[in-house]
Amino acid sequence: MNITVVGTGYVGLVVGACFAENGNTVICVDKDAAKVRALQKGKIPIYEPGLEELVTRNRQEGRLTFTTTLPRAVRSSQVIFIAVGTPEAEDGSADLQHVLGVARDVARAMNGYKVVVDKSTVPVGTAEKVREAIRRETTHPFSVVSNPEFLKQGAAIEDFMKPDRVVIGAEDPRATEIMLELYAPFTRTDAPIMVMDCASAELAKYAANAMLATRISFMNEVANVCEAVGADVDQVRKAVGSDRRIGSSFLFPGVGYGGSCFPKDVKAMMRFAEDAEYDFRILQAVEAVNLSQKTRLTAKMKKHFGTLKGKVIAVWGLAFKPKTDDMREAPAIPLIESLLQAGATVQVYDPEAMAVAKKLFGSRVTYADANYTALKGADALAIVTEWNEFRRPDFERMRSLMKTPVIFDGRNLFAPAQMKQSGFTYYSIGRR
Ligand SMILES: NC(=O)c1ccc[n+]([C@@H]2O[C@H](COP(=O)([O-])OP(=O)(O)OC[C@H]3O[C@@H](n4cnc5c(N)ncnc54)[C@H](O)[C@@H]3O)[C@@H](O)[C@H]2O)c1
Repeated sequence: MNITVVGTGYVGLVVGACFAENGNTVICVDKDAAKVRALQKGKIPIYEPGLEELVTRNRQEGRLTFTTTLPRAVRSSQVIFIAVGTPEAEDGSADLQHVLGVARDVARAMNGYKVVVDKSTVPVGTAEKVREAIRRETTHPFSVVSNPEFLKQGAAIEDFMKPDRVVIGAEDPRATEIMLELYAPFTRTDAPIMVMDCASAELAKYAANAMLATRISFMNEVANVCEAVGADVDQVRKAVGSDRRIGSSFLFPGVGYGGSCFPKDVKAMMRFAEDAEYDFRILQAVEAVNLSQKTRLTAKMKKHFGTLKGKVIAVWGLAFKPKTDDMREAPAIPLIESLLQAGATVQVYDPEAMAVAKKLFGSRVTYADANYTALKGADALAIVTEWNEFRRPDFERMRSLMKTPVIFDGRNLFAPAQMKQSGFTYYSIGRR
């Protein structure tokens, strides 16, 4: 099938490369000319495991091309995916200007029947708005489909190639048939393709992200209670997670959720519920808990040191999660800002996010070329992202580099007993 994917970010580039990998001819369109030039030369602007090989192979085989010119791409395609950003607007709602702008541009370029697919995360009612925007610009026949994306950054290709489910909001049989054909190779392992109305498909994406964010905030509160009453959240988590009705994934307490999706999607869901005169009270609490959780590591440091003025703090992990370079809404940002505000010197290290961090913090922090280098002369280490390479460090070496052996672990990477034995003062989340 001939496909256009508009937006070559974390979602669009993965979607385009994966469709090409399954034999489709894919044109990726982005308005960012520098990004497109880089992609045309085989340079991948983001870090996502396996993506570079996939893009290179499909580019070389002529199934994947990149352009800034939308009309030509639309004319040669049967299906057009809209995968542009839906950032948070000032009032917390999802800003649809990019989605609707692309819809209008697509409509103006149409030369026959097209399926226009919303891949971006969009509030209920957007399919109708997209339909209306297209209808105003063209007399050609078209269908609008809602096809939310559930991939996780850091495992995006695996998730897209072998999804838990594919959700298709489609309200006419012609478009449904095309979408089923397109996704058939991805669901050979019997993952369900769920066809539903557009509103339900749109809501399913927000409900999934809101549920995951709720689990995180819930466990963060359980961890905080553990600290208050002297229980161990690891034990509690295992006991709770073994209940098959609950399950063990997504029960890890930490420094709060971040990334380009959970924070904005939780806000947008509250907002569109409010517009429909429904007060989504649980999500208000989820968000409030998350905001306060992001301050807990700094609070622990202040309690330990009295003042952070003049202290040197090493930070391991900047990306909002491992295996990505993405720092959008990363918990490391408010942590580092609060340390700087309190007068500390900050030395940071992340395996992939250093270039992004340099744009954010400039010369206000020191950038280490390795995790151990960041520890030189440090009064304490704060662990913010659970990269695998931080899990089994050489504690002797760490102690010899640090001024004082103090660790504030926001991801519970180490066993408290082992840390005591290794001579560290060790603070973690929800454990004694
Ligand atoms: N990142 C994730 O893990 C994830 C997962 C599922 C769903 N989503 C959703 O997918 C959407 C895209 O997210 P992302 O993380 O890929 O965003 P992103 O910011 O990484 O990428 C968006 C891309 O769209 C391009 N763009 C914007 N307007 C354009 C236009 N008019 N024409 C052409 N290109 C344009 C931008 O230049 C950018 O390259 C969002 O709605 C997001 O909520 C994201």
